Amino acid sequence: MAEVLNIVVGSKEEKYITLIPQLKALCEGEPNRVANLANVAAAIKQTFDYYWVGFYLVDGEELVLAPFQGPIACTRIKKGRGVCGTAWENAETILVDNVDDFPGHIACSSLSKSEIVVPLIKNNEVIGVFDLDHDLVKAFDEIDHKYLNEICLWLVSII
Ligand code: SME
Repeated sequence: MAEVLNIVVGSKEEKYITLIPQLKALCEGEPNRVANLANVAAAIKQTFDYYWVGFYLVDGEELVLAPFQGPIACTRIKKGRGVCGTAWENAETILVDNVDDFPGHIACSSLSKSEIVVPLIKNNEVIGVFDLDHDLVKAFDEIDHKYLNEICLWLVSII
């Protein structure tokens, strides 16, 4: 197991390309879901310095806060509510350039300005979401979409 995250430099895309094999090495042989989600959130926060990086997992009719890095956040989100609950309901990624333009956005922090939420889909069922927030508008783009989606596809195969 890689015990330290190697320094990841370059463009955003280069960082994802370098980071993904390290994430896989970090989680290799570890069956515990919380441990793996926690290290993935930490590694992405450390690499990109996004404002908030974390997971919500489906528990009945709600998403419940799971491993994350960043300021405290709301613990429960109902299906269809906010960006996270909408990504769950629609089973698709939502990229929000400016959270003020997303009706029903749940502001866990007033500092959060843009957001991307990728659903974790296992056996055709959403089991959670991966949520990333930035304190600048338009911080996330198609590069994040592509590589976060790749990370989520791999994550559901190991958790
Ligand atoms: N903004 C999210 C809530 C979760 S926090 O950003 C960590 C939403 O609208 O669902």
